[in-house]
Amino acid sequence: MRRIAIFASGSGSNAEKICEYFANREDVDVSLIFTNNPMAGVIKRALKLQVPVVFFDRKTFYQTGKIPQILQNEGIDLVVLAGFMMLVPPVLVQAFPNKMINIHPALLPKYGGKGMYGHFVHEAVVNAGDTQSGITIHYVNEHYDEGDIIFQASCDIAPGDTPEEVARKVHALEYEHYPRVIDEILTRR
Ligand code: GAR
Repeated sequence: MRRIAIFASGSGSNAEKICEYFANREDVDVSLIFTNNPMAGVIKRALKLQVPVVFFDRKTFYQTGKIPQILQNEGIDLVVLAGFMMLVPPVLVQAFPNKMINIHPALLPKYGGKGMYGHFVHEAVVNAGDTQSGITIHYVNEHYDEGDIIFQASCDIAPGDTPEEVARKVHALEYEHYPRVIDEILTRR
């Protein structure tokens, strides 16, 4: 059995798609969902999906080794960031070398780094007049959005597309590819 933990800070629609994808699998289990945000939509989704939620605060995340300890005690094989908005501290990166992945809503290395998340990314893409955007799935290191790239997919931006429209196209790509790429990573190990 391969065990996944998901980290999410917001709505959690990607987390839900990942849970649904693996729901009937005997060999893969989404075991825990971690969040730093007590108001996050992902909590309601996790209750519906019957996946236990671990809530943590900033201090626990950055000043203790408790989170890696929980992940290790639970036998987690892959940590999946899905709309997780905090920089991962070295203690956690080092505990899961090449076993932690993130999805970013743009074609990295463009539109990455601190402050580039969610709608800020789509606004920047539209303001720049780009004709394409997309998704990047990458390993997590100690810097925002800089780990090795595993997979990218792109979508066209039509003239006049709003940031909301770009977000919708990017989300569709995320739902299509993130669960499948996670599956590939898990099963080739
Ligand atoms: C997703 O589009 C994800 O790529 C992005 O936040 C959204 C979360 O949506 N992540 C980042 O911007 C990380 N830098 P969701 O909560 O509905 O899955």
